Amino acid sequence: MRTEDVQVQAQVRVRVPAKVNAGLAVGGARPDGFHDLANVFLAVGLYDEVTATAGAAGEGPVITCEGPDAAQVPLDASNLAARAALALAERHGVPADVRLHIAKDIPVAGGMAGGSADGAAALLACDTLWGLQTPRDELLAICADLGSDVPFSLLGGAALGTGRGERLTALPVGGAFHWVFAVAHEGLSTPRVFQEFDRLTAGTAVPEPAAAPALLSALRDGDAALLAAALANDLQPAALSLRPSLAETLAAGMEAGALASLVSGSGPTTAFLAKDAQTAHQVAQALQDSGTCRTTRVTTSPARGAVVVEDIRA
Ligand code: C5P
Repeated sequence: MRTEDVQVQAQVRVRVPAKVNAGLAVGGARPDGFHDLANVFLAVGLYDEVTATAGAAGEGPVITCEGPDAAQVPLDASNLAARAALALAERHGVPADVRLHIAKDIPVAGGMAGGSADGAAALLACDTLWGLQTPRDELLAICADLGSDVPFSLLGGAALGTGRGERLTALPVGGAFHWVFAVAHEGLSTPRVFQEFDRLTAGTAVPEPAAAPALLSALRDGDAALLAAALANDLQPAALSLRPSLAETLAAGMEAGALASLVSGSGPTTAFLAKDAQTAHQVAQALQDSGTCRTTRVTTSPARGAVVVEDIRA
């Protein structure tokens, strides 16, 4: 077989998880418009897959997407997967001719880092496809340039994100947690939610963001009841202000037996912690029956970060 034939057939598939913010402490707006965060990320078992194959010379990154929400995914250069391919290619001085197919299962514009996940997955897929072997810390730095949540999508597990959320310290997690996610009918824009946070906190002294010790120990001990008591999201009032109907979703999940409920990140996906898998399924059914959400998903945390699941160059 000639080398060209091998390149045409080469294909790398990367699986990447969604996240929930077990704790999201938000500071005041910085001069650059971002907010300092103490962001306790937890990767959950909902996954996108990004498959990279060689593209035609000169065409640059070409994005395609499949899945129930595929119509909402931008396929142009604004897609984080395309931006990741371009950033990596530029760093190594190689052509960014790659086809990136996204099999999307993470809710779109839902506060679960779906776009960030695709950026991290595309980066790892291209790095593998192009045989670049970029050191991990360099990959993480490229991720941080792409967006605040992108480094965590590469890392997975659990981590404290400081700065604008991109500076990560891995956190130990002592057991599996059971989650239900209620996906809203329509997405929410992250910048819009941060703006609403600024509006709601205007004229008040916003404290320096810090991760609650009780949250970190609940994660470390794998204790769902303690985690339920410690879950917190400073963006929740802003998300509820923009989307008041989310209060009904949160209440429906609690009524059905969830240990705790909160808005996931900037929302509008809502997250419910359950004591076990059976309760999680009951909560999901009740949420579905309540008519307060579009759909529900049941899963566990933590989950592995972006990982190559198929490499047919080998
Ligand atoms: O970093 P990323 O591009 O994902 O951020 C999207 C938007 O969310 C930013 O443009 C900003 O409006 C807001 N944001 C913020 N503070 C952060 C992270 C994001 O204000 N720490």
